[in-house]
Amino acid sequence: MQELTLTRPDDWHLHVRDGEMLKAVLPHTVRQFSRAIIMPNLKPPVRSVAEAAAYRDRIIAAIPEGKQFEPLMTLYLTDNTEPEDIVAAKASGFVKALKYYPAGATTNSDSGVTDIGKCDRVFEAMQQVDMPLLLHGEVTDKAVDVFEREKVFIEQHLVPLKQRFPKLRIVLEHITTAHAVDFVMATDNMAATITPQHLLFNRNALFKGGIRPHYYCLPILKHEIHRRAILQAATSGSPKFFLGTDSAPHTRDSKESACGCAGCFSALHAMELYAEAFEGVDALDKLEGFASFYGPDFYGLPRNREQITLVKKNWRIPDELSLTESGLVPLRAGEEMTWQMV
Ligand code: NCD
Ligand code: ZN
Repeated sequence: MQELTLTRPDDWHLHVRDGEMLKAVLPHTVRQFSRAIIMPNLKPPVRSVAEAAAYRDRIIAAIPEGKQFEPLMTLYLTDNTEPEDIVAAKASGFVKALKYYPAGATTNSDSGVTDIGKCDRVFEAMQQVDMPLLLHGEVTDKAVDVFEREKVFIEQHLVPLKQRFPKLRIVLEHITTAHAVDFVMATDNMAATITPQHLLFNRNALFKGGIRPHYYCLPILKHEIHRRAILQAATSGSPKFFLGTDSAPHTRDSKESACGCAGCFSALHAMELYAEAFEGVDALDKLEGFASFYGPDFYGLPRNREQITLVKKNWRIPDELSLTESGLVPLRAGEEMTWQMV
């Protein structure tokens, strides 16, 4: 195939940050996607409808002139979130979900929930008003191996949560394991997002010829067995699995450091990366459902009407995008891509 035309996709898990970084990264997402679920892990996090409204205004102000883009906002669940916050979020119309981070699990998650068992009143309210819960599904227990944290989270927290709230609609974000695929497949009112890096790379990418900080994200890349399982899920045509890049920009300084930040920047070339992953298993015909249909269907939003086109063409991913401070290194910088969005 030399050319691929699809309904314009959306990104169901995205970090755009704030300030200068927001202005630098947002145009890339706007070029590829119509809408995106915006992660609330700013410093301080987006916890109230008022904070989400103000952040949404700053995002809208950063959309390049003449372009269409809709930020879909989320609130950051903390130990202090109340059922009234859920009712207010639903009434706002623009807050589409709540995001759960276990405290300390990933970048800017210090205000996250310390004990998932404490949030039952909030989950009850979410189930009642039908507000989806987005999970960073990893335990933070230092005794648990970093490659096992998703599996252990599912067993220890997600299985009991689903038993308590079977009708609560949950997205297990950026899944990385066969365990997650199996659980999502077997459970009602459960979906998952999948990133390009987890479809394209296994954990060897972290150590190819030396340590590779730009491949470090959380949940961390896993064994090839797991990469194959999520690639199979993404290309299966099941509406339970849809696109969420988890594009998470950090400056070059903060990645190339003795204690580098977690997060891969893929907003520049997300659709090209997904196309390559799907083509690798001869499943380009499944890309449109994954990228453009199942996400809006889950969130109860209309599918987009416009289209995008990708063409078969070799091009080189830039080494760095320039920002005012340190640069921003895209995922797979300096390497060749075989698809290009036109
Ligand atoms: C994300 C970030 O940088 O905000 N990092 C990451 O590795 N994915 C946070 C997150 O989604 O875990
Ligand atoms: Zn994320």
